[in-house]
Amino acid sequence: MREDNVMELPFFLLVLEITFIVVGKAVHPGCECLIFSSTYSKEKAVFKSPDYPTPYSPNIDCLLYSFVSGPDEIIEITFEDFNVYRDKSDCLRGDYVKVFIHLDSAGINEYTPWETVYCGRMVDIPSVIYSSGPALVLEFHSGPRVTNTTGFTGHFKFIDKRVFHTEGVLLPNTMCDYQFQSSPEESAYGKFYSPRYPSSYPKNSRCSYRFRARYKERIRVVFEEVLLQKGDISCLNRADIIRIYDGKSTSDAVIRVLCNEGNELEVLSTGSELFIEFVANSNSPGQGFKARYQFQSMEETNTIDNSKYNRLGFLFPTEVGPSVSETRSSCDIIINSDTSKNGTIMSPMYPSPYPSKTTCRYEFQGRGKERVQVVFHDFNLYHVQDHSKDCENQDSLNAFVHIDGRMEKIDSFCGSTLPKPVMSNGPRLKLEFQSLYASRYSRGFNATYIFTDNFGIKTGTQVPDYPCAFELNSNVSKVGYFHSPNFPGVYPRDTECHYFFHGNPKEKVHLHFNYFDVEGVLPCEAISASDYVEFSNFIPRDRKYQRHCGQLKEFDIESDRKFFRVTFRSNDRLDGTGFNATYHFLNQVDMYTVIPKINGSKGCLAHSYLLLSMVLSTFLLMVRVP
Ligand SMILES: *[C@@H]1O[C@H](CO)[C@@H](O)[C@H](O)[C@H]1NC(C)=O
Ligand SMILES: *[C@@H]1O[C@H](CO)[C@@H](O)[C@H](O)[C@H]1NC(C)=O
Ligand SMILES: *[C@@H]1O[C@H](CO)[C@@H](O)[C@H](O)[C@H]1NC(C)=O
Ligand SMILES: *[C@@H]1O[C@H](CO)[C@@H](O)[C@H](O)[C@H]1NC(C)=O
Ligand SMILES: *[C@@H]1O[C@H](CO)[C@@H](O)[C@H](O)[C@H]1NC(C)=O
Repeated sequence: MREDNVMELPFFLLVLEITFIVVGKAVHPGCECLIFSSTYSKEKAVFKSPDYPTPYSPNIDCLLYSFVSGPDEIIEITFEDFNVYRDKSDCLRGDYVKVFIHLDSAGINEYTPWETVYCGRMVDIPSVIYSSGPALVLEFHSGPRVTNTTGFTGHFKFIDKRVFHTEGVLLPNTMCDYQFQSSPEESAYGKFYSPRYPSSYPKNSRCSYRFRARYKERIRVVFEEVLLQKGDISCLNRADIIRIYDGKSTSDAVIRVLCNEGNELEVLSTGSELFIEFVANSNSPGQGFKARYQFQSMEETNTIDNSKYNRLGFLFPTEVGPSVSETRSSCDIIINSDTSKNGTIMSPMYPSPYPSKTTCRYEFQGRGKERVQVVFHDFNLYHVQDHSKDCENQDSLNAFVHIDGRMEKIDSFCGSTLPKPVMSNGPRLKLEFQSLYASRYSRGFNATYIFTDNFGIKTGTQVPDYPCAFELNSNVSKVGYFHSPNFPGVYPRDTECHYFFHGNPKEKVHLHFNYFDVEGVLPCEAISASDYVEFSNFIPRDRKYQRHCGQLKEFDIESDRKFFRVTFRSNDRLDGTGFNATYHFLNQVDMYTVIPKINGSKGCLAHSYLLLSMVLSTFLLMVRVP
């Protein structure tokens, strides 16, 4: 046996005052164990690879870091530094850390499935990981190759898992189907989580969350954090997905589809029922989601409107501009889609000149999948000459939407150029009119608003299975045009729209883009934070066509056969004005067939090894098993 173990140990032993540590040697030669238990301490403590921060030595066959918590706890591991030698793309060929997070105890053997394998740098791994149960094991392995990689360090703590309890009633004989019923006895607020949250959700799960409000109530849900399967593909082809239906089952209209990542995403039901479905079929599950819900009285929201309305003496819906209160500073209005689906907003005293030193806020509140679109008809604000081009220090109108839980300015208008239409990215939009100077020649603005389900897209037939999808059928029209949401205005953020072209047999579709401005850089991937337009002869991605983004001159694109898909996707940053294109269904189809290549799934090479299950004793001591 290796005599030098005694000398090595102090390097990876941590100075943990109360945390229980066992250093052991498993059956397999060279297998060392470090055990961190919460038996005596819940304090945060550190762990590190051997010799950190100097490079670790080669041939560490297996070193186990076993974390064991109390029965009502889970383990949170935070990596502060990570630098483990990576051989090409496969971690198992180089040095690696195998991660076991779904364990009932710290005992693992060669048959225990690991969740993932980490290698590379900090950017290659999630910085925080959680166990789903009372144990978590990291297995560190270094191969024969001498490298100058320094290994890893981090800290861990034990957290109470009851914090992540899903309120609501788990339906009998189901894994994760919950029902939430509003009742006078129970709280109108609560939380719900994906299975095993904050650890990763199990593969092949399907969960449902059904909300039933009482009469004159609706349901508000905010997804505080969503982290599903990674990868840069549209929600159309995701194996892990959250679908939100505006009613009691999957047969109701889809309000929103969530895949990949997001923060503080808000959904409001139209009626008193809401159904959420979470499906996970990918091989690389993410962390999942955490969300809060609220049963909200419809009267409550209307009362707020009415109090505003009474206090400020507005006519509602406003057909004249908001009157300015005595202090000449407040003229705020809330426009709720329950009250009116469309109407007019104006600057105070329009079309007479607006007063100076006035701020008016116009807050729009929609529901279901409604978006707010504001279309301007007249715009005439006083503009100080010799100022910089932007609207700073000018009389202006600013548009804000909710992004990541903040109100973020998406546009700013000043002078007398008629603004393009504005659209919200969700149920809410705020416009803020700010007059600093005013002038007797400046009329202000006049605009119409509409709460719309169709994203401002009026061609084609909207399909209910997705929030924003349109079918263009050759039987309905052989020619026509289609455009991006809110065109010719800036497209909304975090929006995915599909255009499905259905021709008759022997037809194909020809598209001509006459305008194209989609924010991004080639190859239009998520890594460059690009929005994009994707083309495909199938529902899955089609390698034949590259994604399009940027500001492009006119171009043409043609399908191979009768079906064609165009997908537009925007992220939560920077916008463009989108695209406008014409389509023609043509008759002569090339009769060759392209069979799409199915990507083979990457299998992991299973290495087998033998590890001794570790049994914890309850003493506070350090043991070295010879
Ligand atoms: C580690 O080695 C690689 C190549 O062997 C070298 O490029 C890199 O700069 C080295 N890093 C450090 C921190 O010495
Ligand atoms: C506005 O609403 C009225 C009824 O409330 C409807 O008749 C009209 O068509 C709507 N206008 C638009 C532009 O949708
Ligand atoms: C708003 O402007 C349009 C276009 O200038 C005009 O037709 C309409 O009458 C205006 N609305 C009001 C209420 O003045
Ligand atoms: C067009 O109409 C015909 C006859 O009703 C039908 O068979 C065909 O499926 C329709 N084509 C499409 C693309 O819907
Ligand atoms: C989009 O293109 C079509 C066809 O060229 C055209 O009729 C339509 O006016 C365009 N839409 C806008 C808003 O420019």
